[in-house]
Amino acid sequence: MLIRKPADVRPSEITSYDNYLNRRDFMRAGAIAGGALLAPSALAAVVPDAKRARLPDVSESPYSTGESPNSYEDITTYNNYYEFGTGKDDPAVHARDFEPRPWTIEVEGHAEKTGTYDFDDFVKPFDLEERIYRMRCVEAWSMVIPWVGISLAAVVKRLRPTSKARYVAFETLHDARRMPGQRSRWSLDWPYREGLTIAEATNPLPILAVGLYGEVLPNQNGAPIRLVVPWKYGFKGIKGIVRIRFTERQPPCSWNMAQPREYGFYANVNPDVDHPRWSQARERRIGAGIFAEKQPTLMFNGYGEHVAHLYDGLDLRLNY
Ligand code: MTE
Repeated sequence: MLIRKPADVRPSEITSYDNYLNRRDFMRAGAIAGGALLAPSALAAVVPDAKRARLPDVSESPYSTGESPNSYEDITTYNNYYEFGTGKDDPAVHARDFEPRPWTIEVEGHAEKTGTYDFDDFVKPFDLEERIYRMRCVEAWSMVIPWVGISLAAVVKRLRPTSKARYVAFETLHDARRMPGQRSRWSLDWPYREGLTIAEATNPLPILAVGLYGEVLPNQNGAPIRLVVPWKYGFKGIKGIVRIRFTERQPPCSWNMAQPREYGFYANVNPDVDHPRWSQARERRIGAGIFAEKQPTLMFNGYGEHVAHLYDGLDLRLNY
């Protein structure tokens, strides 16, 4: 293992978001030697060129915001996906040849329907919905993204968690041959991990996204499947998911493990709780132009009517 465990790393060595963004010591492995051909699959059958292909039977959702979405270019060229580099333009370049097929999802822990699912079989039982959501990154920028996805609540229900399941944990693929950023010793403790409480995961808003702009999800945005939780900072939206585990205890989450004083488990968008190194009161809308004024950040990213009740009795200043 090239990456040291947190116990071996002095706090002064832990790299923060903004340091990451300046650092360019990633191995620029370029194209990854992937499998030559796509494995046959249900989605690929409907959409022969899975690289830029429309998804069938996508319905609109009442949960979509009325704001105009960012351009396809903004959404697919300004990304955070450290498995493919730390620069905003790295994922589009270094994930270009990533092959998100074949792909399996392991379901583990306190649930009745545990096991290994082929990605297409996993998605097939659910309706594809377009959900146009604001995304607020903890770095104080935002976008509006027309995701296509399946309801996480519906997925959780179908997997039948037992009464012991209090949290849902997610993990990204861990394969440094296919994800060159995972070879960096200056990076996160791979694989990227995230988690939600069961109450959060069964709220109607979160989705597992498999597309955007009506098309198959681009690699840089987390193909073939990633989490979207619109009232939380973007880092909760884990990409390239290969494992879902129902747990009794709060699962470890990547940014919280790396910098617990800066990134909390809940990570609800909150303009009143500043990041220790910058204000969270306002945000820069990507694509608005360099002269555009920053706009005020909204509590729960504007989704409070749907989710504020989940945190009744919790001090949001402490449980950030
Ligand atoms: N998931 C993985 N596996 N690796 C990452 O580096 N970055 C997170 C999140 N999911 C990240 C990830 C962060 S910090 C943000 S802001 C969003 O993905 C960005 O999603 P986007 O690039 O699709 O806009």
